[in-house]
Amino acid sequence: MFNPFSLEGKTIIVTGASSGIGRQCAIDCSRMGAKVAIIGRNEERLNETLSLMEGRGHTMFSYDFAQLDGIKDFITLIVSEIGKIDGVLCAAGMEKSAPMKLLKPSDYEEIMKVNTISAFELVRQATGVKVINTPASIVFISSITSVIARTTTAAYSASKGALVSGARVMASELAKRNIRVNCISPGTILTPLMQNYLSQLSEEDYQKRVNGFPLGLGETTDVSNACIYLLSDASRWITGQNIVVDGGYTIQ
Ligand SMILES: NC(=O)c1ccc[n+]([C@@H]2O[C@H](COP(=O)([O-])OP(=O)(O)OC[C@H]3O[C@@H](n4cnc5c(N)ncnc54)[C@H](O)[C@@H]3O)[C@@H](O)[C@H]2O)c1
Repeated sequence: MFNPFSLEGKTIIVTGASSGIGRQCAIDCSRMGAKVAIIGRNEERLNETLSLMEGRGHTMFSYDFAQLDGIKDFITLIVSEIGKIDGVLCAAGMEKSAPMKLLKPSDYEEIMKVNTISAFELVRQATGVKVINTPASIVFISSITSVIARTTTAAYSASKGALVSGARVMASELAKRNIRVNCISPGTILTPLMQNYLSQLSEEDYQKRVNGFPLGLGETTDVSNACIYLLSDASRWITGQNIVVDGGYTIQ
């Protein structure tokens, strides 16, 4: 059957796979035929993700991406177990919201380390010639806060904006090896954590948030479908881009 979005025959690493968007991406990559290595910090929740995946040959690995120095050895371990990879999806991330007056240098350092620098280091190590097949595709999950201002998110927005600008340069450096690098910038996606946050808002603030999205709030599959596209050969001529998946939020 004609299917340009198939991931058959591809081995893909997914970070942040123990919950939310990363979990959905891992499940949907498996449904599209990929062999998936899922990474997270909580083995019990990683096992839950594994139980929801289709097909065979998937593996799981524990890692805390605050440990930047260990990423080289971690990638070596993964490749020794699963072989060379064809794609990387970086969904691990954290948020820390506070008015800028209250954000300290240590807050910026922590969030940049987990959201940005660890992803860049992962890609640096994962693009070694003995590690990655070509063609290959790398996808970072950024955020619409990389392109719009949302109060109290200066540190988070900076970390997500840096993903977009870093990805552009990596895309340009890696194009000659046929390795593509792109970002997806989601608006508000109904993950369990986000639902929990939204449930604490007043009715007025909740409605304001929802009304900002002409197509309503997003589902995790809205992001995983975009990931599948970028990881598949259907997007073979797209690199260095930031695809905004936000139900129309940023067009207003
Ligand atoms: N949900 C949204 O509305 C939304 C919108 C835009 C962007 N995003 C981004 O999407 C990605 C996934 O978010 P989500 O909403 O699914 O939230 P989530 O909290 O469910 O997922 C984040 C994942 O990252 C992992 N993680 C966090 N710190 C880590 C560390 N130090 N080492 C290893 N893993 C770590 C968590 O364990 C978790 O599995 C994040 O990068 C987030 O910034 C989410």
